[in-house]
Amino acid sequence: MSLSGTDRRRAAVGAVLRGRAARPGSPATATAPANVALVKYWGKRDADLNLPVTDSLSVSLGDAGTRTTVAAAERDGFRLNGGAVDPAAPEAARLARFLDLFRSPACPGFAVDSVNTVPTAAGVASSASGFAALVRALDGLLGWGLDAASLSVLARLGSGSACRSLWDGFVRWRAGVAADGSDSRGEPLGVEWPDLRVGLWVVSDRPKATGSREGMLRTVGTSPLYAGWPSVVAGDLAAVEPAIAARDLAALGAAAEGNAMAMHATAAAARPAVLYWLPESLHAMARIARLRDDGIPVWFTMDAGPNLKLLFEAASGPALCAAVPGLRELRPFGPRV
Ligand code: PMV
Repeated sequence: MSLSGTDRRRAAVGAVLRGRAARPGSPATATAPANVALVKYWGKRDADLNLPVTDSLSVSLGDAGTRTTVAAAERDGFRLNGGAVDPAAPEAARLARFLDLFRSPACPGFAVDSVNTVPTAAGVASSASGFAALVRALDGLLGWGLDAASLSVLARLGSGSACRSLWDGFVRWRAGVAADGSDSRGEPLGVEWPDLRVGLWVVSDRPKATGSREGMLRTVGTSPLYAGWPSVVAGDLAAVEPAIAARDLAALGAAAEGNAMAMHATAAAARPAVLYWLPESLHAMARIARLRDDGIPVWFTMDAGPNLKLLFEAASGPALCAAVPGLRELRPFGPRV
């Protein structure tokens, strides 16, 4: 008899915790950065365990992320950015389902209080930093003493891209081959690039119509272009890693922008189409191409939503902030405040 998805997730957690005690101590607080993928995670080979079809590579966003405090409780209670989360909301159900993996008689519920350090409306995925901060806080509350690699495996079960948010800087998520996902986790590249900047260009803060889970499922299941995606990723990873090592923004930007466009092409070809772009997104893309023609070295990437994330270096910051009103400039390798 095959195991249910829940049983497989529990077994994957058991393989990481290896009998560690589940006795809660005092409430614990932890932070984690958001991350933006330069080579995207797009498509799962195992939807229960969030195992990806390919590797992906991201840069963490410094002090833009999530701070979470978790305490043991009789029953769950969730707060986000200072307000209670409606237990009937889909985010609450998703969080409760993740926490189901860690409940015990000594800790039947969890009080989770999260604050995003960049407004959710700023268009940075908050689920990656949210689940990464949560597993770090659970590690403190339950006294596991796990290393970042093990916490990355746990964070992946909450949200795939969260497994990259356990480190600062550039992180490659190795897809792995193990059926239980024990080798599918982030790995830091260990390269510093202090001048690198990520700009958030929010063209719409409306909630997106199709979440990344549904978008991936439909793309993998129905897009005639998806078969070509793994070789796109292989080529872009082969370009991006040396570009990072050489701090070559033109090479990095071209590969990252091309990778995002290819991801969106696979999604747009799904049936029915998964289309994340708004008219404003297209205007913004054209604007970036023009700024580049005008001599400003800037490229963009886009995730499962309509907003752009710009890649540039410190010297271009003033010109870009003048050209794009409201641009929010983040420093992946900046000093922590
Ligand atoms: O981790 P999820 O399920 O939110 O998926 C993230 C998917 C993208 O943001 C589109 C790409 C990525 O690699 O982060």
